[in-house]
Amino acid sequence: MSTLITNVGELVTNAGPGDDPGQGPGPFAALTGAALIIDDGRVAWTGPAGQAPAADEAVDCGGRAVLPGFVDSHAHLVFAGERSAEFAARMAGQPYQAGGIRGTVAATRAAPDEELRANLGRLVREMMAQGTTTLECKSGYGLTAADEARAVALAAEVTAEVTFLGAHVVPPEYEGDRAGYLDLVCGPMLDACAPHARWVDVFCERGAFDADEAAAVLAAGRAAGLLPRVHANQLGPGPGVQVAVAAGAASADHCTYLSDADVAALASSGTVATLLPGVEFSTRQPYPDARWLLAAGVTVALATDCNPGSCFTSSMPWCVALAVREMRMTTQEAVWAATAGGARALRRSDVGHLSVGARADLILLDGPSHTYLAYRPGVPLVRAVWHSGHREF
Ligand code: NIG
Ligand code: FE
Repeated sequence: MSTLITNVGELVTNAGPGDDPGQGPGPFAALTGAALIIDDGRVAWTGPAGQAPAADEAVDCGGRAVLPGFVDSHAHLVFAGERSAEFAARMAGQPYQAGGIRGTVAATRAAPDEELRANLGRLVREMMAQGTTTLECKSGYGLTAADEARAVALAAEVTAEVTFLGAHVVPPEYEGDRAGYLDLVCGPMLDACAPHARWVDVFCERGAFDADEAAAVLAAGRAAGLLPRVHANQLGPGPGVQVAVAAGAASADHCTYLSDADVAALASSGTVATLLPGVEFSTRQPYPDARWLLAAGVTVALATDCNPGSCFTSSMPWCVALAVREMRMTTQEAVWAATAGGARALRRSDVGHLSVGARADLILLDGPSHTYLAYRPGVPLVRAVWHSGHREF
């Protein structure tokens, strides 16, 4: 069954120069007056609408824009409870404290599987309805071998991009025995989680794990077959970015407080800087300057960081709008970062672009161009979503 998506006002393809899907996304690229054919879950053809070959069915977009589905490369969706009181306290002047994570850990440990699965499913549907067609999901609110294994197994039910984050914080029962907790994370907990995960992550921050501890967690994860990514430089300047680059991490996430040396290290590495503007919004921290990173040649991704503490949004469109307004990204840069950038941060070549051969993940926007995502912030503009060629919304 093939589908012709036609009368597309602006078709954002991010197709590379050779249109070779195996190369992954190219720079921002778009066609006007375009059409696209979906066949067997893949993009089979793109070009001028007047030249489109026949297909089994057709969807007339009425001049609206079509974009690659968003790639949300950073989310914490396996948890119970909520922390709106902490948010309200921050808005009244309290700082964000990583210690709040422990409250979610207690609620998550106490929750039955069905409750966690239902919460996870609700958030995934929320994301999809807003155009996210690839998502990463971390553990990190279990912090026992059994609870972390349960979290990664649940995450694996909804995505292939599962991240083991046993090194989120030291849980209360290991207060005073950091070494003992790290032995657990790098030993039995990792063994229990690695079969369900693709990635290993660590919160490298004052109040969480230092540079040596983080490097040890990433090395253990790598030895178990997992690929590294890092929560870096979120709450203040620190070693996270350097740890990420040294470990060959796919991504250093947050990057809120960077030094010249951090930016230089990112620029000369294959590590993507994943910016999470919803966190700055929800914690009243300063936004990182995306222009600085882009000017240095760093690859930038945008993601939600959806979690009950530092940022409880599931909306990539809102993150695009924030990045444009508050981090000085152009609309093209922000849309690229939310699609192709996320794919780079997950080392995926099949998503984040609409070259021939790419997975047919696309969004129909209620607006004539990608600019509407920032021009009409907060408005539900995602009118239809195709995931692997299937219409989901
Ligand atoms: O990415 N930084 C660490 N982890 C999450 C926050 C988790 C929480 O506050 O529950 C983050 O911001
Ligand atoms: Fe996070």
